[in-house]
This record gives sequence, C-alpha cells and structure tokens, in this order.
Amino acid sequence: MKLAIGCDHGGYNLKERLKKYLQDKKIEVVDCGTNSTERVDYPDYAEKVGKMVAGGKVDRGILVCGTGIGMSIAANKVKGIRAAVCGDCYSAQKAREHNDANILCLGERVIGFGLAEQILDTYLNNEFLGSYHRARVEKIMNIEKEK
Ligand code: RB5
Repeated sequence: MKLAIGCDHGGYNLKERLKKYLQDKKIEVVDCGTNSTERVDYPDYAEKVGKMVAGGKVDRGILVCGTGIGMSIAANKVKGIRAAVCGDCYSAQKAREHNDANILCLGERVIGFGLAEQILDTYLNNEFLGSYHRARVEKIMNIEKEK
C-alpha cells in the first residue's frame, strides 16, 4: 500500500510521528508537507493529498491538522474524496467498512500519539464491506455530479 500524508502547522508533530510509524512498517509514504510548525493554510495540503488520492497516485491519504476538521472539510471538496475525521478506533473501522473512506483525518490537538497510531492501524487494516453500503456510497458520489 502506498499512502500520501499531509498536515498543517497544527498537525506537523503528529504527521512526522505517523510518517516514521508507517515507514518502520515498510509502508511507502509520500510526504506532501508541511515540513515545520510555521503557520500555513490547511486547505493547500488537503488539496495536495486529495488530488494524489483521487488521481490514483496513491492508495489512500492521511491528513493531520489541529482538529482534523478543517482538513476533512477541505479534502471532501476534491472530487472522488471521502475523507473521515476519526478520534476513535470504532469510527476508523466503520469509515472503511461502511463509507469506504479514502482519506483519514486526525487532530493532533485532540488525540495523543498512541491513540493516533491505533486509529491509523485500524483504518489501514479494514476494508470496505460493499453490499448495501456500496449503493449508499454511490449516492454520496452522485451528489458531486449534480450541478
Ligand atoms: C490551525 O490553527 C487550525 O485551525 C488547524 O490546524 C485546524 O485545526 C483546522 O481545522
């Protein structure tokens, strides 16, 4: 699996921690920045990672900001993206199984590093269940086709 990871200044420390965590597991990670705690605008990084995922350059994306909320709102504006902000493992599992979320958003100022790693593992190790969930996800994707 190949992942794209991005953050703003509020998520930089957790992004660095998760990048190393993934690399230690031999998972390929494309780092889309930012690369310091200097103030930046989170939509720029949400767009970069979102376009990498939507364009098929990576399998899934990880976005980190202070809360995960801004990143999820912005990433969900990219066509084809289903970004889910998760603060617990149950939500991360369902984001994959029910919603086929292709980007996980995390809030560095909300959760600790240990929980973030568990949420990430849960997100990566669960798959979309398809079946009747597929029709619902298709309805979501049809919304962005509407003018
Ligand atoms: C930056 O201060 C903060 O607004 C950002 O990281 C994020 O939490 C936005 O949703």
